[in-house]
Amino acid sequence: MKIIGLAGLGTMGSGIAQVFAEKGYTVIGMEPTEELLKKGNKRIDSSLDRKVQKGKMTVDEKAKVLSNITFTTSLNELANAEFFIEAVSENYDLKANLFKELDGIIKPDVIFATNTSSISITKLAANTKRAEKFIGMHFFNPVPVMKLVEVVRGIATNDETVNTVISLAKELEKTPIEVNDFPGFVSNRVLMPMINEAIFAYMEGVGTPEAIDSVMKLGMNHPMGPLELADFIGLDVCLDILEVLYEGFRDPKYRPCPILRKLVNAGYLGRKTGRGFYTYG
Ligand code: 3HC
Repeated sequence: MKIIGLAGLGTMGSGIAQVFAEKGYTVIGMEPTEELLKKGNKRIDSSLDRKVQKGKMTVDEKAKVLSNITFTTSLNELANAEFFIEAVSENYDLKANLFKELDGIIKPDVIFATNTSSISITKLAANTKRAEKFIGMHFFNPVPVMKLVEVVRGIATNDETVNTVISLAKELEKTPIEVNDFPGFVSNRVLMPMINEAIFAYMEGVGTPEAIDSVMKLGMNHPMGPLELADFIGLDVCLDILEVLYEGFRDPKYRPCPILRKLVNAGYLGRKTGRGFYTYG
């Protein structure tokens, strides 16, 4: 297995492309428009530059990694993929339609993985005729740095698929942890209520964003405070995940804080738009 098909070159997808390409895989990265492809390419380029500047990679090695990635706007170009991973936006219909279409393009024995943060693997798999070869492979941001890959088994996922993804994650020098398919899996089921509670604390005037973040950084040794982390993840992504948890469990404890919704409605999505709980230069 040497050719990785990848849909979506946003924050997560570009990181995923980079880590596979660094290990010598050929990556075919797909985005629907040239503009999005260019942005994805630039993200990968900047992330590799960071390594070159730190002396962790030579300019030649960087060029080699980049040459392992091809960019396309056509789904048909993914036909030769030997493993496919999806990293498009956290929207069920978008992902479902993509998998439906690719089921007819990519060979039936190829594993379909999704980097979804919270959407049901079982439900996504039902859009294909390969539910036993369908799995969650959930990376963390920044992908080149974070060690965890949450491996999520859907109702029909077979052992061979789980074992292949576990081996693949290890080859990428990640630590795979296997979990079952429930809304938010383990990671976001635990992380998002913490972030949401921090937003409620802010809304209720318990503390400023700086105070709330400092409490969690200094008191709990978190590398980033919850509001800083929400800005880093993207407030739209946080809201999407909380909606999945709220819908999935029908439990008010997952109710997204109104301030989060307000910021997303305003287009203040965090670092990527230059403004969220904080403003960025
Ligand atoms: N891309 C690539 N590499 C990056 C990077 C990026 N965006 N940001 C930082 N790095 C690298 C640096 O180059 C550096 O590498 P080195 O140790 O080899 O020199 C290393 O990470 C540490 O970076 P810095 O010294 O510049 O900065 P910090 O020490 O402040 O660390 C951080 C930055 C790693 C982002 C740290 O703040 C952190 O761990 N934050 C929490 C991140 C987190 O919780 N992520 C999970 C989010 S949840 C998620 O992704 C799931 C999804 O479903 C929502």
